[in-house]
Amino acid sequence: MSVFTQKTFLFLSFIVILLVVIMFFVLGQENNNNYMENNIKLPEPSTEGEVSLEEAISKRRSVRSYKEEPLNIRELSQILWASQGITNSDLRAAPSAGALYPLSIYVVAENVENLTSGIYQYLVQEHRLKPIKKGSFKDELYQSALRQSSIKESSLIVIITGDYDITEKVYGERAKRYVHMEAGHVGQNIYLQAETLGLGTVAIGAFNDEEIKETIALEKEVPLYIFPIVRK
Ligand SMILES: Cc1cc2nc3c(=O)[nH]c(=O)nc-3n(C[C@H](O)[C@H](O)[C@H](O)COP(=O)(O)O)c2cc1C
Repeated sequence: MSVFTQKTFLFLSFIVILLVVIMFFVLGQENNNNYMENNIKLPEPSTEGEVSLEEAISKRRSVRSYKEEPLNIRELSQILWASQGITNSDLRAAPSAGALYPLSIYVVAENVENLTSGIYQYLVQEHRLKPIKKGSFKDELYQSALRQSSIKESSLIVIITGDYDITEKVYGERAKRYVHMEAGHVGQNIYLQAETLGLGTVAIGAFNDEEIKETIALEKEVPLYIFPIVRK
């Protein structure tokens, strides 16, 4: 091969590689954009179950160990509905001071059938998931929650956040107290609903607020409570 053809060959190879890299980048962006744009409809939650409230209360325990099986979207839907789902008109599953609803629910899906791993916000009115970020965030959350193994080993992590300003406008100084009480109500609903589904959870209060805020891209809400969900 002459020097000229060698140079031409190298140049053309470079162009081809460049085009392939650009194509991968563009396609990747497109997939990400589709993922970010489409809210995901959740299955209708059930309002009847086979486990009585008394049984769920008596069997409920904090569960920190893990069974390596994925959760399914029906279970996720039910847990979210129990946390903040609409139960009557605009009223929700958990009580709220003045029905102001200062809490939001975020989901970190790690091993849920037919659901891309990532962070989602629960859209209460539509009973849908709004994608926030794609990928696995379990290790990041594990570090932020003082390396608690219950986080690292879970298939799904529910994070309750609160916006004090919403409650403060009506209740002034008592707002923080009320918002924290409400997170407790939601947490107990999650515990009991998990129990009826044969799932387990544990309330996690020990974590670094700023790191969790960064992971789920919160602006003014504060993270209040974390619930890793596992199959028992
Ligand atoms: C506000 C609060 C914060 C908690 N934080 C943690 C935590 O960070 N890590 C943990 O493993 N358990 C945590 N727990 C769970 C308790 O350890 C647990 O509820 C307690 O040991 C009683 O066990 P039980 O839930 O099985 O009845 C927390 C519970 C509450 C109410």
